[in-house]
Amino acid sequence: MSVAEDIRSGETDEASLTLRGARHDLPVRRGTLGPDVIDITSLYQDTDCFTYDPGFTSTASCESKITYIDGDKGILLYRGYPIDQLAEHCTFLETAYLLLYGELPTAEQYEAFKDRITRHTMVHEQMNRFFTGFRRDAHPMAIMVGVVGALSAFYHDSIDIRDPEQREMASVRMIAKMPTIAAMAYKYSAGQPFVYPKNDLDYSANFLRMCFAVPCEEFEVDPVLTRAMRRIFILHADHEQNASTSTVRLAGSSGANPFACISAGIACLWGPAHGGANEAALTMLQEVGTVDRIPEYIQRAKDKNDPFRLMGFGHRVYKNYDPRAKIMQKTCHEVLDAVGHHDDPILKVALELERIALSDDYFIQKKLYPNIDFYSGITLKALGFPTDMFTVLFAIARTVGWIAQWKEMIGDPLQRIGRPRQLYTGPTERAYVPMKDR
Ligand code: SDX
Repeated sequence: MSVAEDIRSGETDEASLTLRGARHDLPVRRGTLGPDVIDITSLYQDTDCFTYDPGFTSTASCESKITYIDGDKGILLYRGYPIDQLAEHCTFLETAYLLLYGELPTAEQYEAFKDRITRHTMVHEQMNRFFTGFRRDAHPMAIMVGVVGALSAFYHDSIDIRDPEQREMASVRMIAKMPTIAAMAYKYSAGQPFVYPKNDLDYSANFLRMCFAVPCEEFEVDPVLTRAMRRIFILHADHEQNASTSTVRLAGSSGANPFACISAGIACLWGPAHGGANEAALTMLQEVGTVDRIPEYIQRAKDKNDPFRLMGFGHRVYKNYDPRAKIMQKTCHEVLDAVGHHDDPILKVALELERIALSDDYFIQKKLYPNIDFYSGITLKALGFPTDMFTVLFAIARTVGWIAQWKEMIGDPLQRIGRPRQLYTGPTERAYVPMKDR
């Protein structure tokens, strides 16, 4: 069935639960696409029971109109538009506008939005001093968590989340300043001077220039590399209620300021099971090193007693090929050709590892396919970034999705502080025993 055929009206039906002899009817709500949801908001009040779903594999945490994923069909839509069409035809800020406001911008709306973002790409000059507090070998993600969280100390006029204008200002500042802060983190680790943004460059070209330009010579931005950067940003911009987006929503539900919420999202994205997988995937491919060592690693990935996992493979939602991975693989070839590394041995290992894994019963049975992180590491290395910058680039792009989801949550009249419960299996009540008697 096509996506279009799968669109349905908002009809509902009911589920019933029989518990301790009592029947409880639960409303079932239907979205426009994807699985229905059983509304359990009254379950605890009616049954004195919680549901139990560690990892939230069967839990919808919210209603959203932003991004739709069909894991079985390998479909990813931003506000209804297929990711491959956006990656092919859009600029990153055009995609950002779509995610933030729900529609593709007209030429006039796009120019106004682009100009607004451009005007906020500089950071407060005093923020430069933050960096000198870090060791030069600090992981750039550690710097991003710290510096982004500190933005609320500099921009007091955009932290009152009850004021729609301040929410909009914070959103613009966050999206505009992330590339600048990320480039500063890279320059600081390289021991090079910071490079200021230039207003006559687009988002992706500006970022590449802030990372790779040096004061002693002019910097020409390569159009092929800029197109690849733009596409990589678009692919990483949003992804439904993933771990870091859920972190941003939960932080935002307490009323924390938007800069603090994005800093929390960056911290969560850093994990190797999530956004840190692109760095881990390249490190793994470099450790494999040659095609003849692939069977050894495939065996380790299948060994229950070995914690090793094939980084860049598998996904909580995609049980088919991650649609972003296909576009990333194509981009990878384009960048390697552009930089003259088309025979990069690491790519040969990646392609052969993918071929072997996709024909192996273990991976087929567990529906483990390459995800977006499998090819992104090779591409980003070819673009000239060190591995510890890979997740930073992911965070730049995902800031748009985090902001869009945060705004949607804040604007939801039903929104309340997120506060899950638990299944308690600890000790029952007992009296204190003085230390001398223990
Ligand atoms: C991202 O959520 C998102 O949308 C995330 C993301 C986004 O855009 O925000 O798409 C970005 O984070 C992509 C995922 C990047 N992570 C990795 O590439 C790390 C390697 N992948 C795995 O750690 C794992 O696949 C996860 C974390 C991605 C998903 O984990 P799940 O859904 O909890 O699945 P699981 O760990 O329960 O695995 C199911 C089975 C297990 O075997 P059994 O216990 O059932 O026998 O599959 C096995 C796992 O051992 N398995 C793997 C594997 N991934 C899962 N075995 C070997 N190698 C792997 N990569």
